[in-house]
Amino acid sequence: MTKPVLDLSGQVAVVTGASSGIGQAVAIGLGRAGAAVVVNYRGERDGAEETAEAVKAAGAKAVVVHADVSSEADVMELFRRTKEAFGSFQILVANAGLQRDAPAHEMSLDDWRKVIDVNLTGQFLCCRAAIREYLARDPQPELSRAAGKIICMSSVHERIMWAGHVNYAASKGGVMLMMQSLAQEYAARKIRINSIAPGAIKTPINRDAWETPEALAKLLKLIPYGRIGEPEDIANAAVWLASDHSDYVTGATLFVDGGMTLYPEFRDGG
Ligand code: BGC
Repeated sequence: MTKPVLDLSGQVAVVTGASSGIGQAVAIGLGRAGAAVVVNYRGERDGAEETAEAVKAAGAKAVVVHADVSSEADVMELFRRTKEAFGSFQILVANAGLQRDAPAHEMSLDDWRKVIDVNLTGQFLCCRAAIREYLARDPQPELSRAAGKIICMSSVHERIMWAGHVNYAASKGGVMLMMQSLAQEYAARKIRINSIAPGAIKTPINRDAWETPEALAKLLKLIPYGRIGEPEDIANAAVWLASDHSDYVTGATLFVDGGMTLYPEFRDGG
């Protein structure tokens, strides 16, 4: 584990989809940096409890809150519970996301809608709730230079088109312009909004891509840096984007992908 050098103590972070994978690592990373964490989950209560235990073991506070981010009522309840527990919050990591893969000509409308509802509409609902809170309360310069921070979890597939995953790629392309538009809209109100675009990170969502040596070898051809990403790689980026060390950064997508977006097929010339 990288030793946290950035201090978020006194701040409160809401992390959606924090029961496994990237969300879990981000929640723990923010906790290690001193933030109290609201650990949101939808399906995996045990995973969420594990996340909360790890945050507490690092000496920070944590509460576990169930919510389906694609439900407006659930999202309102998530943020009501956050305020009930901690008064306010300064950091949102809109992370919850899923895949429902199929060739486009076989993709059901349900699978299209599910992915857009969770990955895009779910992020919008959480961003809207955070922006409302950041606008409503006074700035807290003793905690952070910004009135509030939002980190959207995007993907290399906001840039790389992805056959067989049209719903997912469309959702992440949507996250890109949603994030940029919100950043433009609220920069003057001192709200910083950025995205992280992970490449292939070793989590349950893409188990098929790394589980066998053959699959991993194929995947590594797409990653110039020569290793699969670890959830902690994303956590480190999130801690930085949540901290005042990135205070002049807004509307940016930080690619954390080992070079996956560098057209690796061209590395030996075209
Ligand atoms: C997807 C993973 C995939 C990675 C790189 C992510 O956004 O969720 O399944 O391995 O992009 O293609």
